[in-house]
Amino acid sequence: MSSTETEPKHGGDLLQLENVTMRYGAIAALQDVSLGVAAGEVVALLGDNGAGKSTAIKIISGSVKPTSGRLVFEGIPREFESPRASKELGIEIVYQDLSICMNVDVVANFFMGRELVKRVLGVPVLREREMQRITEKVMADGGTKVKSVRQNAEHLSGGQRQAIELNRFVYWGGKLVVLDEPFAALGIEQVRRGLENIRRVRDQGLAVIIVTHNLHHAFQIADRLVVFRQGRLVLDKSTSDCTHETVSQAITGDGPPVQIQ
Ligand SMILES: Nc1ncnc2c1ncn2[C@@H]1O[C@H](COP(=O)(O)OP(=O)(O)OP(=O)(O)O)[C@@H](O)[C@H]1O
Ligand SMILES: [Mg+2]
Repeated sequence: MSSTETEPKHGGDLLQLENVTMRYGAIAALQDVSLGVAAGEVVALLGDNGAGKSTAIKIISGSVKPTSGRLVFEGIPREFESPRASKELGIEIVYQDLSICMNVDVVANFFMGRELVKRVLGVPVLREREMQRITEKVMADGGTKVKSVRQNAEHLSGGQRQAIELNRFVYWGGKLVVLDEPFAALGIEQVRRGLENIRRVRDQGLAVIIVTHNLHHAFQIADRLVVFRQGRLVLDKSTSDCTHETVSQAITGDGPPVQIQ
């Protein structure tokens, strides 16, 4: 394949969706969407109910395959057979609370599926102290305070659970994290911490996509704003070039047509 084939059409050197269409029968959930995300960048996906945001995420995660178009990750066209395939490449999708197990502690959540094991007389035994030490260090490095990493996740706040997910993603070498409505259930202080967590992840050179209905959060955290309307990408611009008004108009379809950068 020539190098020009993988060159991003709309920014982004980590992930590109190229001319992606997703049909469910007669419904086009996405129509000819091209979108790029670069390392060290936060992109907010905006749009009304049914605009196509979740569909875009499902394609990025490999839970559904696009009807046409392609996904390029790290310069290589990919066909993810399942979410496991995208995860192995460093793509993490975080649905609020769904990826945390409430009835186990922070350490167990942190090492879920990647437990450290030693053999004692041939019997596999969890290296609990080592896992605890690492979890404490990573949580502290990530600026997240929890009373004890030995408490069950159910006793933590939504923001703290989100911090576990982000710290875990960074620790295990993730490259792109997609956060679906990360602040929907959080209070003001927790949102502030959540925004800080996302900035920290971005500043480490990782890519972040957040899906939100909240324009204020998008303007606070995102480097770029992308708006979907009825399956089409109708705005893709640096946040500094957008106003609340132009973005609202792009979402609702009111006002003059908006330009894609
Ligand atoms: N599995 C499916 N089968 C049929 N239609 C679907 C399916 N998933 C999504 N759609 C349709 O595709 C369109 C886009 O849906 P999508 O879930 O991507 O929107 P969204 O932007 O995430 O909306 P919301 O903000 O409400 O979460 C909608 O018209 C929806 O009804
Ligand atoms: Mg959705």
